[in-house]
Amino acid sequence: MDSRFQLTRTQAEGLAAEFGTPLYVLDEASLRARIRRYQAAFTAVASRSQLTYASKANSTLALLAIVADEGVLIDCASQGELEAALRAGVPAHRCHLHGNNKSTQELEAAIEHGVHQIVVDNFQELEQLRILSRRPGRSPRGHQTEAQATEPGSTGKGEAPGRAAGEMPDLLLRLAPGVNPLTNAKISTGQEDTKFGFNIGDGSARRALQMALENQLPVKGIHCHVGSQLLDPEAQRGAGAALARFARQMHAEFGWTCEVLNAGGGLGIRYTEQSPMPIEEYCRLLVGAIQEELQGSSLDPILVQEPGRSLVAESGVTLYTVGNIKPTPGRTFVSVDGGLSDNPRPALYDARYEVLDFHDSEDRQTVTVAGKHCETDQLFDGISLSSAIKPGDLLQVLCTGAYNSSMASNYNRYPRPATALLRSSGDFLLVQRRETWDEMFARETLPPDLLK
Ligand SMILES: Cc1ncc(COP(=O)(O)O)c(C=O)c1O
Repeated sequence: MDSRFQLTRTQAEGLAAEFGTPLYVLDEASLRARIRRYQAAFTAVASRSQLTYASKANSTLALLAIVADEGVLIDCASQGELEAALRAGVPAHRCHLHGNNKSTQELEAAIEHGVHQIVVDNFQELEQLRILSRRPGRSPRGHQTEAQATEPGSTGKGEAPGRAAGEMPDLLLRLAPGVNPLTNAKISTGQEDTKFGFNIGDGSARRALQMALENQLPVKGIHCHVGSQLLDPEAQRGAGAALARFARQMHAEFGWTCEVLNAGGGLGIRYTEQSPMPIEEYCRLLVGAIQEELQGSSLDPILVQEPGRSLVAESGVTLYTVGNIKPTPGRTFVSVDGGLSDNPRPALYDARYEVLDFHDSEDRQTVTVAGKHCETDQLFDGISLSSAIKPGDLLQVLCTGAYNSSMASNYNRYPRPATALLRSSGDFLLVQRRETWDEMFARETLPPDLLK
């Protein structure tokens, strides 16, 4: 069965009339169902497990609140994403801070808010954290012994361990396991020469741990994320195993107990013809690879995954209105009222999407759906639409719940679209209105002498 959310014609017409297009639409019921499925699949193979949502995929406040309500922690890759989580009502102690180039100010803000974990990327950041941990009034919390280790949060609604604002959060070291995933190079992050994390192979990861321990930083675990939209789980399996091996070696060498092993996100979804691995099988393979490496050791870390796309993408669609239709000698263009500014993924990664019209006719034609922007002729190529398609018709693009609204821009001075949420009750609610001209220009000042 196709689990991807799509609108009926009646719903689409009602939404377009009320809120205009382009319009992002999110579906609460399928979002909650997918989160629960992921949680069930993960806990079935790892009783000490925790799901974290990579909020870069979509940080619309209503969506963050739903995800958090399902007991999922929120992974923030910037202070802005942390601010979004806090404004969505997520307590800081249920948030993680990521980032490969965090500023001291970002680190300080995260500590002051009382985030649960900071994922440390590099030596400079370790040094920044060492200095911040020594600030007056801040008790450095060194690594705990096994007996002191906090109980895990769970994939249910259990609280993550709380801590007073200003107290040092748990630290995880982001590691580069040296695996090369099969995905677009622009979303591949686990290879040897990645900019993310401490390299295991060249000894950086070991040195980072040693430095953290010597400085009594509360380093609780390790993390990796090797890439996104991965359809072959080999990279995540290999990375999970590499992390577990590293944990064993560090236990043997430093007596350090890895309490948290975070294998990142990356599970791919079906945009068009792809057939991703079912979540259950993926969790089994990933956890199996980690457990195999840990077998025979006393280590029993909480296992964490931080998916973004696979939790939210399929619960979103984008609704567009058709403008002009232009037959050319090579192909027919069907232009819609959005494009690069509301979905940059086709231009960035050659991403492809399924586009549906609302006609019943069997008579089809293959067209190129074009956006309104100056770059790129095509938004979506090779799209089968009804031959009856005409200006003013609506089109819906499936699986735009991830990396669309969060990547939107004002390119060509288009206001960013609104977002409507289909509540589990069946009602649509506007959770983000369309940007206004005043909002778009609010940051700008025209020097008075240039004002004619
Ligand atoms: C550190 C980290 N974790 C998790 C994710 C989520 O990845 P995905 O949306 O593919 O699950 C990303 C995405 O880039 C990431 O960089």
